[in-house]
Amino acid sequence: MEQDFSAYGLATRALHMGRATSLERENSPPVYLTSSFRFDSAEQARAVFAGEEEGNLYSRFTNPTVALFEERMAALEQAEHAIATASGMAAITMLFLSLLSAGDHVVISRSVFGSTTNIANTLLKRMGIGVTRVTLSDLNGWEEAITPATRLFFLETPANPTLEMVDLAALAGLARARGVLLAVDNVLCTPCLQRPLELGADLVVHSATKYIDGQGRVLGGVIAGPRALLMDHVYPMLRNTGASLSPFNAWVLFKGLETLSLRMERHCDNAAHVAAHLAAHPAVTGGVLYPGLASHPQQELAARQMRRFGAIVCLDLGSRARAFRFMNGLKLAIMTANLGDARTLVTHPATTTHAKLTDAERSAAGITEGLVRFSIGLEEVKDLLADLDQALEQA
Ligand SMILES: Cc1ncc(COP(=O)(O)O)c(C=O)c1O
Repeated sequence: MEQDFSAYGLATRALHMGRATSLERENSPPVYLTSSFRFDSAEQARAVFAGEEEGNLYSRFTNPTVALFEERMAALEQAEHAIATASGMAAITMLFLSLLSAGDHVVISRSVFGSTTNIANTLLKRMGIGVTRVTLSDLNGWEEAITPATRLFFLETPANPTLEMVDLAALAGLARARGVLLAVDNVLCTPCLQRPLELGADLVVHSATKYIDGQGRVLGGVIAGPRALLMDHVYPMLRNTGASLSPFNAWVLFKGLETLSLRMERHCDNAAHVAAHLAAHPAVTGGVLYPGLASHPQQELAARQMRRFGAIVCLDLGSRARAFRFMNGLKLAIMTANLGDARTLVTHPATTTHAKLTDAERSAAGITEGLVRFSIGLEEVKDLLADLDQALEQA
């Protein structure tokens, strides 16, 4: 019988949930790299397929390593259940495809990841699903967008890369009162910094590719929420369409969770130093975005619903030319279209992650040509500050 760790703190749960061993009594879980599972008899195969006997069948929908990762993620998000997917975008797509049908309507924040916007504009519209885009922080806008066909609200808070936020408890109250499900992309926070389900959201999605891996190695995604909703809707969609997480990636992500809370503390410490340093720098003409800065327009909300302020710091240098000169001058920060790595990463959202949006969509999402996004890593902070200073001089 697996010990129950649910009453322990987050860091303890991240280390001990799912620690039952196989007959080999291994201390670190094995990776079950197998496509399918054997049966002892034709009768057993029939019974497992019929759901009369428990057992693994085929790794598109049952794999013990993936199940371990799902169990640990559910424990950290305080969710009844979690389902892992091949990537964050697979999680978001599975969520939409399993909860929405032709004729339904979804309200999506304007400030969501570029691929989420592309899915809303193409796949959802092609399937006859109505989409309304709203300003993330504007509660009246969400309310006004509701129609009798509205099934789902979808958002990121804080949003990538603008770090705009919405009051989750207030929006969850509105969604519940109007019979709409609220799903939150919790990528920038992880359960260490923000737990949307505790604030009233119905579902949480993650790109586990980011902080959950934390070392820039593998892709993965998760949807966490009520067991019945996930098993009745998301599980059959994933089982039949196959956007499943590989057991190898599940193992990497499972091990990543063991150090997540420690890493997030250091990420947040470093980011707070970097944000304060940049905000005081005369070369940063267009301002600094960081929820922990007093200058952030939603600082009070951030302090209320996030435990700490995360590790994404954006600065605006006023033009693409200055942003590029600055980025090209950095020696430590790595230029790559990812975030949540142990190493500090830097991106120019307007020409990379959000390049496929129209100019109007980019400007509605607050993504300017001078905006540079940092995902602050775990380096010695004095080295990061020195790197920023020398690159700002060149900009
Ligand atoms: C907020 C957010 N959601 C979802 C995704 C998609 O995740 P993945 O790349 O794992 O598909 C990303 C990727 O950058 C992201 O930043």
